[in-house]
Amino acid sequence: MEIRKITHHKKQYLPLLLLGDEQESMIDRYLSRGTLYVLLDNGPKGVCVVTDEGFLPEDSWPENGRVLEIKNIAITPSCQKQGYGKALIRFIEDTYRQSYTVLQVGTGDSPLTLPFYEACGFTVSHRVKDFFTQHYDHPIIENGVQLTDMVYLRKKL
Ligand SMILES: CC(C)(COP(=O)(O)OP(=O)(O)OC[C@H]1O[C@@H](n2cnc3c(N)ncnc32)[C@H](O)[C@@H]1OP(=O)(O)O)[C@@H](O)C(=O)NCCC(=O)NCCS
Repeated sequence: MEIRKITHHKKQYLPLLLLGDEQESMIDRYLSRGTLYVLLDNGPKGVCVVTDEGFLPEDSWPENGRVLEIKNIAITPSCQKQGYGKALIRFIEDTYRQSYTVLQVGTGDSPLTLPFYEACGFTVSHRVKDFFTQHYDHPIIENGVQLTDMVYLRKKL
């Protein structure tokens, strides 16, 4: 298994990116400024995009400091639940521990994703009300339920 940084032709990984964020125009908002990693194991099996989100306000939970955000993470469906997602998170932590204080991720209030992040050591930080209904051009349905709020989880690096 290898995790590789991709700097050119990032859109070639769109099919994987769309698994983590199903609206291409939303992916376009972060893909060029974000850093894209691809997990390879006999071909591409997963992707992860991270962005620099600047500094937390002084009184923020749990630490002050520089925030790295996971904007997209996805593992090809036939390879899920085999540890690849956790391996990508661990790689991000190891790569950015020296330069960032907090790793954060925003996700829908869904039983398909929250338990994954909690298993990776994240805890819920805050919610952005109606994010999915306001920013996406169609209803996002996960596990039969329409997503409304964005739930942010954080982990100290
Ligand atoms: C979410 C996703 C990236 C997780 O990757 P994965 O490779 O399947 O997860 P892993 O096998 O590394 O699982 C890591 C841990 O999370 C747990 N986990 C993963 N998905 C889970 C779920 N739906 N419910 C409960 N636990 C889950 C695993 O049991 C494992 O726990 P353990 O370490 O205690 O054994 C993957 O399922 C995916 O690509 N989903 C579609 C895209 C998506 O929704 N991306 C997130 C957008 S916010």
